[in-house]
Amino acid sequence: MTARPRVVVLSTLPPVGHELLRQQFAVEAGGQVAGAAAIVTDPSIPAGGALLDSAGSSLQLVANFGVGYDNIDLDAARARGVRVTNTPGVLTNATAELAVALMLAAGRRIAEADAAVRRDDWGRPDADELIGRELAGATVGLVGFGRIGGRVAELLRGFEVRLLVTSRSSYAPSPGVERRDLLELLGASDFVSVHVPLTAETRHLIDADALAAMKRGAILVNTSRGAVVDTTALTDALRAGHLGAAGLDVYEDEPQVPQGLRELPNTVLLPHIGSATATTRDAMARLCADNVIAVLDGRDPPTAVV
Ligand code: 8YV
Repeated sequence: MTARPRVVVLSTLPPVGHELLRQQFAVEAGGQVAGAAAIVTDPSIPAGGALLDSAGSSLQLVANFGVGYDNIDLDAARARGVRVTNTPGVLTNATAELAVALMLAAGRRIAEADAAVRRDDWGRPDADELIGRELAGATVGLVGFGRIGGRVAELLRGFEVRLLVTSRSSYAPSPGVERRDLLELLGASDFVSVHVPLTAETRHLIDADALAAMKRGAILVNTSRGAVVDTTALTDALRAGHLGAAGLDVYEDEPQVPQGLRELPNTVLLPHIGSATATTRDAMARLCADNVIAVLDGRDPPTAVV
């Protein structure tokens, strides 16, 4: 009997993913990748040429548990004939809902208000304390209008906002959504939410100049990748009072969250939980396992990147 192909799971993977993989493969959590037919990674695990080389010529696939694949060196994979897969689609709604939650939380100062109640400080919200901003009547700018940005636009329909988006030509703007170039969008929006993948072109897309172009008092939300925003410039803009608040789920150097951001009262800071719901994580695990099963079976995977 030939040995079962080895699948090395370097990421956390919900049990349903492990179960699906165990039906056909020798699955190892963590450990040595040498001799692996497939490696399961997630966006926090860099997968470059060195990792692929440690796996050796047996390696057929790097299956990312996540939609973003900026952790994977695609050229290195191509050069070694290794396939790459991700988990698009299944986390669109969970991430979009979290972006809306951050808009509401940052706009209505929910984290600040919650912290005040926990320290038994009711304050004077009936007077001038904890005054926030509503979405209704606001202009919301979505930087990036792919799957997740598109879903945010759908979710915001009932909020009576004006919606501006930047989008690549491949995404046709939908009714009720106005397309703008980035600087125009930033200058006109009360809330800006970032929905682009991290690439060489989008690294620090929201830099000091972009932040300066935003309206005074505007709110920035980021659920995409931390490095799309220049953290130092963002911290300065918040500290100077140019931006009103920021709601962040992602950071440049996770799991480090800069002290400067943590010290500010007008930031809502989450530990990268965009896809963290039971249904979404299970769906991601199944899709990730289906990708592995297809490739090791000699078929095209459902969601190939390479
Ligand atoms: C992570 C994400 O994959 O999908 C992405 O790109 O960043 C997240 O969904 C998730 O946190 C698992 O690591």
